[in-house]
Amino acid sequence: MTDGDAADEGAAAGKPGDRTAANRGRTPPGPDGLPVVGSLHAYASDPFGFERRMVREHGDVVRWRMGDRWMYHLANPEHIEHVLVRNNENYVKGEIFQEALGPVTGNGILNSEGEFWRRQRHLVEPAFHPERISTYAGMMVEATAGRTADWRAGETRNVHSEMTALTLEIVGRTLFGVDLTGKSSTVGEALETVMARSEFSLTDLLPDAVPTPGRLKFRRAVDTLESVVEDIVAERRRNPTDEDVVSTLMAARDEAGHGMTDQQVRDEVMTLLLAGHETTALALTFTNFLLAQNGEVERRLVAELDEELGGDPPTVADLDDLTYLERVVDESLRLYPPVPGIVREPVADDKVGDYRIPAGATVSMAQHVVHRDPRWYDDPMAFRPERWTDEFRQSLPPLAYFPFAAGPRRCVGDRFALLEARLVLATILQEYHLELVSSPSLDLRPSITARPRNPVWMRIHDREEWTEPSADSKREAESRTEAFEE
Ligand code: HEM
Repeated sequence: MTDGDAADEGAAAGKPGDRTAANRGRTPPGPDGLPVVGSLHAYASDPFGFERRMVREHGDVVRWRMGDRWMYHLANPEHIEHVLVRNNENYVKGEIFQEALGPVTGNGILNSEGEFWRRQRHLVEPAFHPERISTYAGMMVEATAGRTADWRAGETRNVHSEMTALTLEIVGRTLFGVDLTGKSSTVGEALETVMARSEFSLTDLLPDAVPTPGRLKFRRAVDTLESVVEDIVAERRRNPTDEDVVSTLMAARDEAGHGMTDQQVRDEVMTLLLAGHETTALALTFTNFLLAQNGEVERRLVAELDEELGGDPPTVADLDDLTYLERVVDESLRLYPPVPGIVREPVADDKVGDYRIPAGATVSMAQHVVHRDPRWYDDPMAFRPERWTDEFRQSLPPLAYFPFAAGPRRCVGDRFALLEARLVLATILQEYHLELVSSPSLDLRPSITARPRNPVWMRIHDREEWTEPSADSKREAESRTEAFEE
């Protein structure tokens, strides 16, 4: 297989001989790969680097082979918009996605398809209505203040675990009306195992029935998460409310008057529990990590907080005036998108640009590639919140920035996440400066989300007493290049 193949090799995953208009088009270029495994080895050893290299070497539409599966990688925002928005009816999440998440989130709205998905999404959406979300703001700030109240100047904390515990508490209180504070380390450990499983390992090639140690550990982690979900559902069965999403799901009836099965309620709660805290915890971790290495940005942000809040806790009403804070979060989601890539499968053959994408192939689109593309972002590796002016936003092709995906399957919790990220940061940064003490390289583990492989240790300083070391900016500039290469 060589670059620019014009023949029908993609027919492995499509329908040879089918000559409808949509089906015409060339086979995209791509790496040669090895017999049998294709480029699996190169991908498995460095997925982020592999995808970026492929785009640099072969262009905006690249075809490569992962074992016996054809992968089509798209890097042009227009093509991504075609798949996620304009022609989304032709795409499902597909086998790779279902294999990775199905054993955990079952048929919840992250995984379900078609009419069933539409109905479930409709039931969940009211919990994310802007007016409803704004009522969560007080709880978000309170939880942050409570969680950080025992932080002491001079001590060192793993900010990733801290942020995961905090966002778990917030999702528990706001969406489910339960207190999950005592469960954070149990959930955190189980989540680590579940997410590690979606990273490729050679033992994945063994038949499913083989109980490898990794598979047994994964099963135990899912059991742990299930028991947390069961406790949440049991609590809401005992005390249903008008406000929490679990009671809404349990009370829902279809046209024939049938309610949701217990299994379905469990799948939706599991989906919201995991999707609702893990990604935001990562966004907060990455933002703190970036601020710690960009003193000038932090200074400007703290000055804005001082001016607009004057030491008071932030409220929803304040957020309109905190424009630099908004830009800091947007820029962090650009450089370190917590969901680094999205996959889809075309139901029928499609044509993207000049290229043919056969039904059943896997299409991948990576935020971590597009968000660092110099065609859309000047000096793409620099953390520069200033770039997010209104003019810049309007000049960007719509899908050159898609941390929350786009189209009908766009993240249902996007506004919730942005509100939470801004309020949490505003609360923490008024009180503390966080100094990075672990490596300035996050060594991101590419699974469904991009998780730091090691703890992210940061030293706590009281904001008022923090004065920046003079050599900092120089060190900052040096460490940045290394840190952002991930
Ligand atoms: C910074 C934080 C977040 C990021 C970066 C993020 C990103 C995403 C992305 C990229 C998708 C699309 C996945 C795909 O199509 O394959 C998605 C879907 C989803 N997200 Fe988020 N998310 C975040 C926070 C949240 C929060 C806070 C919640 C809930 C409280 C949530 C709930 C969901 C759900 C339920 C879906 C599935 C939607 C559907 O298919 O209809 N997310 N998210």
